[in-house]
Amino acid sequence: MTLRRRLVLSIVALVVAVSAVIGAGSIIALSSIQTGAIDKQITSATHRAQRYLQQNQSGQPGIDLSRPSGQSAGTLTAYFVDGQVVVASVLDEYGRPGAITQSSADALDKVHVDGDPQTVDLGSGIGRYRVSAVNVGPAVLVVGLPMAPVYSSVWSLFWVVVIVVGAALLAASIVAAVVVRRSLRPLERVAETASTVARMPLDRSDALDDVRVPDTDPRTEVGRVGSAFNRMLGHIGSAMQARERSEQKVRQFVADASHELRTPLASVRGYAELTRRMGGDLPKDVVYAMSRIESESIRMTSMVEDLLLLARLDEGREIQFADVDLTGLVLDAVNDAHAASPDHVTEVDVPSSPVVVVGDAARLHQVIVNLVTNARTHTPEGTRITVGLAPSQSGPGVDLTVRDTGQGIDPEFLPKLFERFARADSSRSRTVGSTGLGLAIVDAVVQAHGGSVEVTSEPGDTVFTVHLPIDPAAAVSAGPDVPAGSAGRAASAGAADWSATPAAVDTTH
Ligand SMILES: Nc1ncnc2c1ncn2[C@@H]1O[C@H](COP(=O)(O)OP(=O)(O)OP(=O)(O)O)[C@@H](O)[C@H]1O
Ligand SMILES: [Mg+2]
Repeated sequence: MTLRRRLVLSIVALVVAVSAVIGAGSIIALSSIQTGAIDKQITSATHRAQRYLQQNQSGQPGIDLSRPSGQSAGTLTAYFVDGQVVVASVLDEYGRPGAITQSSADALDKVHVDGDPQTVDLGSGIGRYRVSAVNVGPAVLVVGLPMAPVYSSVWSLFWVVVIVVGAALLAASIVAAVVVRRSLRPLERVAETASTVARMPLDRSDALDDVRVPDTDPRTEVGRVGSAFNRMLGHIGSAMQARERSEQKVRQFVADASHELRTPLASVRGYAELTRRMGGDLPKDVVYAMSRIESESIRMTSMVEDLLLLARLDEGREIQFADVDLTGLVLDAVNDAHAASPDHVTEVDVPSSPVVVVGDAARLHQVIVNLVTNARTHTPEGTRITVGLAPSQSGPGVDLTVRDTGQGIDPEFLPKLFERFARADSSRSRTVGSTGLGLAIVDAVVQAHGGSVEVTSEPGDTVFTVHLPIDPAAAVSAGPDVPAGSAGRAASAGAADWSATPAAVDTTH
């Protein structure tokens, strides 16, 4: 139940309870006040009847005992001698005595003779009476007055209370609903802001700059919550700024370090190469050492290049957009792969007409090369590798797939696959000279193109699927994880032509 509904219901319930208590108290009070007044009248009426009897030699025949003077309409007078009713009558509205039934007389005979008024039901026609019985000589005198006026006024008050409580209930519900709604509106604004923040992708430090709760009056509870919430948003914003600054510093450091390392590495490599060329006179061990220096410097250069590329991709630089013929890139990569490892069966499955997307040709080439190289280097000889291009299954765009029939990737390693320096089998990877940056670069390049990479792997079937949008400008602006930089981006996307039936081109050699 919402807080608002609970508050309204509580207020209404309180109003009903208070009204009911007041109403019930009023009815009980009225009833007892009126009964008290009737009791006083009965006492007077009894005195009058006693005096009348005494004055008229009670019990003497010929005296009309049923009409003691001064009694009001409705007064009941009964006179019993030895349990036998002598006179029993009720005065009508003109003061004329009217007889009562035998059952009423019997009911009166049972009244305690102590002078205290009590309520008796005299049956239909007469109803309930307040009566008191006293001894007058050998006889018993019973005098009573009707309770009908008391009941009638109690019923009237009851209905008045019901109507007033009903009206109060209605008014209380309306007023409570309006007041509670108005009072909770600031709280709703705080809740709305909180859920807006919860929905926001907090990828930029300025994301929270425009989000603030308007209610910050410290005199109200909600205002205090609002200002605390705003302070919290401020803290989060500055923590994100600090994190962004430190990430930026790390990126800058990696970019600068890799850049600076390139020149000395080129010198090491150059001198090693030079020594190898003139190495005729050198001992064999030295020649071997120099060749190791050369190959390791080549490996280190490629690692440094990869690190520099990743740092620049992180900064959103490095991508130059233009029309790229993906089919050509795939065929080149597959031919290179075949040349590099003839023991693998390499196939392509591309449409006969060129598939053109907007992107950076060199970086996309690197994506394909990295995936195909993985399929070559991390699988045994004889593995079948298929590189395919097809219309995307998950929206407009192109799906580039690299499938191999190797041993597959450990499912526990899959979630870390695209992390930097992640290698499933580090001992084997070291022997093949891998660094674990290839897939991180694939991921970064594809994201910079507004695309995504997926992998599914089981023994005998590992598939890397790169989804590339045809128009990266739209995808980059829509995707939250993509760096913003896109210098030299082509104005219009070259639409891929899928009209031709995809032809399976087999380049198996
Ligand atoms: N097709 C594949 N089959 C089996 N394992 C793979 C495949 N592709 C990648 N892997 C595993 O994922 C790891 C990470 O691959 P990634 O390309 O990022 O790095 P690498 O190939 O080890 O090094 P680098 O590409 O930087 O030279 C690899 O070390 C390998 O264990
Ligand atoms: Mg690799």
